Amino acid sequence: MNKAIILAGGQGKRMKADMPKPLFRVLGEPMLEWVISACESAGVSDICVIKGFKGEMIDEYLNGRYTTALQAERLGTGHAVMQAIPFLEGDTSGNTLVLCGDAPFIDKATIEGSLAFHEEQGNAVTVITSELDEPFGYGRIIRSADGSVSGIVEQKDATDEQKAVKEVNSGTYWFRTADLIGLLGKLTNNNAQGEYYLTDTIAIAIAEGGRAGAYKSDNPDIIKGANDRRELLEFNNYARMKVFEKHMDNGVGFTCLDGVIIERSVEIGQGTEILPGTILRGNTKIGSGCCIGPNVVIENSIIGDRTVVNTAQIYDSEVEPDVNIGPFVHIRPDCHIGKESKIGDFVEVKNSSIGEKTAIAHLAYIGDSDVGRKVNIGCGTVTVNYDGITKNRCVIGDNSFIGCNTNLIAPVKLGKAVYTAAGTTVTRDIPDYALAIERGVMKINEGYTIRKLKTKQGK
Ligand code: UD1
Ligand code: CA
Repeated sequence: MNKAIILAGGQGKRMKADMPKPLFRVLGEPMLEWVISACESAGVSDICVIKGFKGEMIDEYLNGRYTTALQAERLGTGHAVMQAIPFLEGDTSGNTLVLCGDAPFIDKATIEGSLAFHEEQGNAVTVITSELDEPFGYGRIIRSADGSVSGIVEQKDATDEQKAVKEVNSGTYWFRTADLIGLLGKLTNNNAQGEYYLTDTIAIAIAEGGRAGAYKSDNPDIIKGANDRRELLEFNNYARMKVFEKHMDNGVGFTCLDGVIIERSVEIGQGTEILPGTILRGNTKIGSGCCIGPNVVIENSIIGDRTVVNTAQIYDSEVEPDVNIGPFVHIRPDCHIGKESKIGDFVEVKNSSIGEKTAIAHLAYIGDSDVGRKVNIGCGTVTVNYDGITKNRCVIGDNSFIGCNTNLIAPVKLGKAVYTAAGTTVTRDIPDYALAIERGVMKINEGYTIRKLKTKQGK
């Protein structure tokens, strides 16, 4: 079986943070996750992550999803891969892909293309390369007269002639697993940096009569690794634009990209318009013909076709088609909003289901409630769902009309087509078709203002 080893031991000193570099995020996902998902998409799921600096943070992030191995001392890329020998020995039948956890733009096509090339050529090792106009800092690919690869020379070890080579090592390689184990045993640290260079495996394989190949990609982005926060910002911008381009090609409209961030995992239907300040995260799915924004955050939620969301935040919820949300709305986790309903300004909804064609037009809090269809929730309605110890539910039947400033003291159940008078505090269940009114008797004190003024003026 084919496997992958991802090097994620780096500290990234220039990031100036107490965190392994591969955990820095590009478009919401750690760079490590980008590399993992490229492997997974190419069908390589048996993965060992090499951790080093703050390795426990890598474990915490991966949460048992993949094998990890610790490189206790940073003695070079070859030394890092040596830490995975027990992982490799488990099954030596296939090939092993080695990648860097801080180069997120490696992709499925490159992984698959290079594997086919590797197998076709019968190589012990195949290095993935690309040409850079500014190759400074990268290992240069040294080719023989017949075009085959003879070795990789690091910047610090290169002659002037070698430094002029523009084809560089991406840091990603395919090895025949059985050969890799043998090659690792032969690495030495005789070089300018005193490190065990994984790149030396190429010359060693050739010296032993094996074949080494270079698979040249015409996409130099696959090489890019982020070393500081400026580069990380560049990566974010790059990844962001790629996402926008994909959606535009699918028929999604963008008037202006200011403040718009859409994570890779988000799906958006044709004909939807995205306005400035829209942030769409996680497993979010937006339907077609929607208008989203300005100033919207939607996370892990489903939004139905033709729904309008303006200046709102929606988390872990589902909104059906033709709903009108906003402005200034907060939909907290576990809500289901029925079709053709309206959630208007200054409304918060939490852990509730709202039936179709229901209107909660302004200034209300609906928490832990089941609201039926065609209900009108008056301005200032509050479900009093928390007594300081437990959260309780409110149920409001279809076609009910909840007067302004109604307090519903949960748990309470209102039947079908119930009315509550404005200002009512509901403390008991209300049967179908009833009106509940709970108010003090209104008194009118005539001439009050005039008497008050006279008192003040001492008359
Ligand atoms: C390495 C390659 C170089 C290539 C470049 C691509 C070697 C000797 N050189 O350069 O040819 O062009 O990558 O980016 O391999 N790491 C560890 N433990 C270590 C050393 C490194 O885990 O002891 C990890 C780093 O965190 C990083 C990756 O290996 O993810 C590459 O290391 P880095 O130091 O960035 O690469 P270079 O030595 O610059
Ligand atoms: Ca180095």
